[in-house]
Amino acid sequence: MMFLLDEAEQWIEANRSRAKSDKRLEGLTQINAFFENSTRTLLSFEIAGKRLGADVVNMHAAQSSVKKGETLIDTAMTLNAMRADVIVIRHMSSGAVRLIADKVDCPVLNAGDGSHEHPTQALLDALTIRRRRGSVAGQRVVICGDLLHSRVARSNILALTALAAEVRVCAPSTLMPAAIERMGVTPFTDFDTALDGADVVMMLRLQTERMSGGFVPSTREYHMRYGLTLDRLARAKPDALVMHPGPMNRGVEIDSNVADHASRSAITEQVEMGVAVRMACLDVLTRRARGVEGWA
Ligand code: CP
Repeated sequence: MMFLLDEAEQWIEANRSRAKSDKRLEGLTQINAFFENSTRTLLSFEIAGKRLGADVVNMHAAQSSVKKGETLIDTAMTLNAMRADVIVIRHMSSGAVRLIADKVDCPVLNAGDGSHEHPTQALLDALTIRRRRGSVAGQRVVICGDLLHSRVARSNILALTALAAEVRVCAPSTLMPAAIERMGVTPFTDFDTALDGADVVMMLRLQTERMSGGFVPSTREYHMRYGLTLDRLARAKPDALVMHPGPMNRGVEIDSNVADHASRSAITEQVEMGVAVRMACLDVLTRRARGVEGWA
């Protein structure tokens, strides 16, 4: 993981200057197959591929033959037959990306699968923390929100604990996964207590689209108990960083004056790091196909 974060560092400046001079993916075809809505992940994968010279094609499920009843595996075989060199997948079902990766010949990147994982989000979050705090190790990171349905939370817990952060998780008991402490984190249901001495506060939205049939909290009550306000943020360290993977629901899990805070909020920086991290992932995963020495 450190290797990928180090690789991403080199692309931050290239992205800031909108440089397209490094065409190392020239001649390769990157297909972004998104079966679920996205703004940040889809666009940053597209920009990342184009900055590196790849031919980037986006497949939106809503306009595809998925709508005519085509199965996921048939769609995967179709993308494979078109000779994609790398496929980026977002899907609403946990495990769908693995299924496709087993069926195609090229590298597959997980852009979020159901409530399972969102690995490039965790990488960009780790990079943001490392750049703003100097290191991930030893940082007290509080992840608060709908942990039960969050692929961002799961991937961040795996990444941040591997990088030796102290991870606290906070949610109402109805949105807390069973036995989450087995992932090496400390669970809290009281947000004020969880925030004590935090270096980083990472907020997550309520994923109501995944709550069908389950308990849906009232947004007013949720904000009172779990919304990040300036008053509440004062319980964290004076220079604590505020993060959110987006999309945000302002006034529910986070107040606007926190989300837009000039010195404390790292939310737009997270988006920026997303392009650099995805450039690094696309580069590294295609090295074998490109015959890069040491990777062939
Ligand atoms: N963080 C994230 O995955 O955002 P999008 O759903 O907009 O891609």
